[in-house]
Order: sequence, then structure tokens, then C-alpha cells
Amino acid sequence: MYSSKITGLGHYVPENVVTNDDLAQWMDTNDEWIQERTGIKERRWIDPKTGDTTAVMGAKAAKIAIERANLTKDDIDFIIFATLSPDMYFPGGGVQIQDLLEMPTIGALDVRNQCSGFIYSLSIADQFIKTGMYKNILVIGSENHSGGLEKSTRGRGVTVIFGDGAGAAVLSRSEEEGRGILSSHLHSEGKHAKELALIGPSTERWVPEIIKDNDPEDVSYFPHMNGQFVFKHAVVRFSEAIVEGLQANGLNKEDIDMLIPHQANLRIAQFIQKKFGLADNKVYNNIMRYGNTTAASIIIALTEAWEEGKIKENDLVVLAAFGSGFTWGSVVIRW
Ligand code: ACO
Repeated sequence: MYSSKITGLGHYVPENVVTNDDLAQWMDTNDEWIQERTGIKERRWIDPKTGDTTAVMGAKAAKIAIERANLTKDDIDFIIFATLSPDMYFPGGGVQIQDLLEMPTIGALDVRNQCSGFIYSLSIADQFIKTGMYKNILVIGSENHSGGLEKSTRGRGVTVIFGDGAGAAVLSRSEEEGRGILSSHLHSEGKHAKELALIGPSTERWVPEIIKDNDPEDVSYFPHMNGQFVFKHAVVRFSEAIVEGLQANGLNKEDIDMLIPHQANLRIAQFIQKKFGLADNKVYNNIMRYGNTTAASIIIALTEAWEEGKIKENDLVVLAAFGSGFTWGSVVIRW
């Protein structure tokens, strides 16, 4: 049986830095509130003049990952693209990557699992490789949040948290036993879908209806988050996903060399770190610099941790996410 391992990593974030003080010019918020509640100091938001979009950023990150895997675009057998902020309602971003990178007419799959998008994507890629169907799969997480946020006091509870960016990984077939992706665990609980959602436009209420109503109070086309409800579920589900991943492999929390939690809120990551008794050098966070980049967050953090030499051969790396859906999960990797 084959195993799959990450052979290339890359990320791209827009150059435009938006600090907490910048946000305070557009809405009633301040640096102290944002840092105290979330740990975020600044985020990157696309400058539309640059031409960056969700797909364009994804393609930029993908190029780096493919090069670092010592492959060319023609070696990639399949694309998996995770985002909640696609350039178009349909088709999804995967086909745009195929086009932007001028790849052969390989398959492209879109994943709609928000903050868990990269975990779901990695798990799907792992299955395709383990069955022998594909050899090299490009997995991308990319988000353009800034284009769809309400940049006013009414939207501040959500808007201050999210940032733009992309990350990519190449997952390749390996015949080394006990290395690469050891297991993945995926979960969902749809009864909480509306606690963290962008409701419209949807097929239940399409654009002409929204325009006809012309209701200034209608916020259905901005993301809505019941922050405290999400927070309470996040800390429980994050922990469960990590424990499940460790138990499935007969491992303990002491075996973790690097935990990369989805960058939802630094306070959530710190809670998890404390709960599992992990030293500072065993948890990687970069939400301070990028905010929450949803499907891109884990892969950007994984790439940076690896670039900084914080992940070494044979390390046990645990990735865990929780987010809108609700969806959550983990991936355990022997690097
Ligand atoms: N600046 C200043 N004040 C603010 C801001 C802001 N940006 N946003 C809200 N406030 C105010 C509120 O209006 C409220 O004021 P009030 O007490 O007068 O009514 C007060 O601050 C407290 O608001 P809460 O929403 O209760 O603040 P909370 O402590 O819950 O923090 C936060 C909010 C940071 C969103 C937190 O709940 C959180 O991080 N939740 C989890 C988010 C998460 O994990 N999301 C999952 C991933 S995202 C995804 O999947 C797409």
C-alpha cells in the first residue's frame, strides 16, 4: 500500500498590510480590543489594483509548492481547491488554477468546508494517493475575505478577524512505511450552520430579490458569526479532533512535535496549548500577522513553520481545524 507525503509547500499573501489602527478609521474599534480578544495585530487585504483574486493568489502559492517539490505543473495529476470566497459563484476555483498554471486537462475538485477546508482537502488527496489513483496532487487553500466584509461598525465583530492569503501543498506518493500522512479525521454538525455563515445570495433568495427589497438592514450577504457560541464549540471540537488523531495512531500528547491549529483566534490556540501541556515551540501561530485566513490558514502556517526550520524529518506534526458548518477535523503527519 502506498502512503502520501507532503513534498512541496508554498504560500502567498498580498503586500497590503492593514493594521488594527487602519480598521479604526472605518469602524468603531481599537487595537487594544482586537489584540486582547483575538491576538491579531495586522492582516493582509488584497489591493484590487494588483489583480490578486482568490484563484490568482492560489496559483502563486501553488507555483512555489510545485517548484519546491522538484516537479513541474505537468507532473500534477489532480487539483483540490478549498475556499469559502471563490472568484465566481460557479464554477469553483480549481478550474481557474488549471487554467492559470496552464496545466493539462487534469481533474479539479472544489472543497467547501471553510476553516476545515484544508484538512478535508488533505484527507481527500491522501485517499486518492493511497488507492493508487494519483501520484502527485496539488492542494490549495485560498481566501479573499476583504472583498466581502462589511467595513463599518455594524460588521466589526467579524470584519476585524479575517485576512486574505493562500497556501498550497503538493502531496506525493511514497512507499516509505510509517511516514507521511498517518491518519485524518473529519466531522460535521450542520444544525449549527447559521451560527457562522453567509446566508445570501442563495437560491432561496437570489440577487434580484435582494435588489428589489433594497433593505438597508439586510445583512444576509455579509458573513454572520455568533462569536461566543463558535468559541465554545471550537475549544471542545479542536481538542476532540487532536485526541482522536493521536489515539488512532497509538500516540500521546507528549509525542506531538508541532501542532498547527487553524488560526481562528489566538485565545483558542492558547487554550488548546495549555490543555495539552505543549511548550511554546510545539505550537505554531501566525494569526498576529495575518488574521484568520480560513481555508488558507493551516497551510500558510505549516509553510512558514517549515520555512523557519521548526519542522524536521521524522517530527510528528498535528494539524487541527474547526469552523463554519460546523466542520472540524485533524490530520496527523510523520514528517
Ligand atoms: N471592536 C470593538 N468592540 C467590538 C468589536 C470590535 N471589533 N466587535 C464587537 N465588539 C463589541 C460588541 O459589540 C460587544 O459590545 P457590548 O458588550 O456593548 O454589546 C462587546 O464588544 C463584546 O462582543 P462579543 O462578540 O461578546 O466579544 P467576544 O469576547 O465574544 O469576542 C470574538 C468576539 C473575537 C469574535 C470571539 O467570540 C471569537 O473569536 N469567536 C470564535 C471565532 C472563531 O473561532 N471562528 C471560527 C473560524 S471562522 C470560520 O470558520 C469562517
